[in-house]
Amino acid sequence: MECGTTILAIESSCDETAAAVVADGRRVLSNVVASQVEEHKRFGGVVPEIASRMHAEAIVGVVSQAMEQAGLGYMELDAVAVTAAPGLIGALLVGVNFAKGLCMSTGLPLVPVHHLRSHVAANYLSCPELEPPFLALIASGGHSHIVNVNAFTDYEIVAQTRDDAAGEAMDKVARALGLPYPGGLHMDIAAANGRRDAYTFPRPKLGVNAQSTGGALGFSFSGLKTAALNQINSAKQKGTAVNVEDFCASFREAVCAYLTEHTIRAATETGLRTVVLAGGVCANSRLREMAGARCNAGSLRLYLPSKALCGDNAVMVGAQGCHEFRAGHTAGQDFNARATFDIAENLCS
Ligand code: KG4
Ligand code: ZN
Repeated sequence: MECGTTILAIESSCDETAAAVVADGRRVLSNVVASQVEEHKRFGGVVPEIASRMHAEAIVGVVSQAMEQAGLGYMELDAVAVTAAPGLIGALLVGVNFAKGLCMSTGLPLVPVHHLRSHVAANYLSCPELEPPFLALIASGGHSHIVNVNAFTDYEIVAQTRDDAAGEAMDKVARALGLPYPGGLHMDIAAANGRRDAYTFPRPKLGVNAQSTGGALGFSFSGLKTAALNQINSAKQKGTAVNVEDFCASFREAVCAYLTEHTIRAATETGLRTVVLAGGVCANSRLREMAGARCNAGSLRLYLPSKALCGDNAVMVGAQGCHEFRAGHTAGQDFNARATFDIAENLCS
């Protein structure tokens, strides 16, 4: 579905300062990402104060470069979309305030975009024929959700984690194994040569936490994470070595099986035949492979964003921003970023 709109999109929710120009929600005119990963690596994770400062330093250059690459002037745009929630509040404020200033000086409408809806929208760029309704698994560093995407701006939560996110669990276990940040990525690389059955982990039950999540299904990753950390610590205490490649392959297997089985079960319960993966963790090679095999076996259609679009970027903000703009979801100068916000709610209402 085309919307005939050219959007400048800005992303600064975590550790990437990004800007992009996207036409019609599907066509990428420019894509600029300034990553802070090298800076945060020294600390083993994202340091919020450093992230905000680095966004503030980078944002003017990143946005100018995106406009230059697109070969457009501000007056040729229809709107400015910006990640407004959820994320690190200081980091989000840099992008939101920059976008507000731009809108004030140009008169362009401001379109706040939910970060997790953007992750789902990355699929509209990688898979041009994809349209709602579908079921989406969103697995990132801070969130693990299964959502029913009824329409481009109509979301319903089917399941969410009551404790850690999948990416967070992988990051913490990877860190305990001495792997660099971002742990999920390095665990995936180390797992390539490891044995998947070398270590055993508890398989969390499907469908727990119904009351605490308010949904029919719920995720819990903290038990899995704690079991892994306990095995690493007990090996250290005994002076025995953990085989990092085998440990990564086994832990990755447990996390991916849990995510996949939960998603397949949600598809069965909701009756949706199209499944979409989204978020940084969906770059995981084993998860992509496993979801592919399970969807194939169940005759479900599976869509995956390209690996390059799984992580944070502004192209996906432009894709979702187009649909939010079409739905009339624009905000005034009194709008503010939010550290947390329900994906099913509209940021502008
Ligand atoms: O979506 P994202 O870039 O940022 C958030 O919105 O959180 O996700 C970041 C998460 C991190 O936990 C990182 O370790 C994980 O995605 N990640 C991966 C892979 N690449 C990044 N996890 C598993 N396998 C990967 N290949
Ligand atoms: Zn993200």
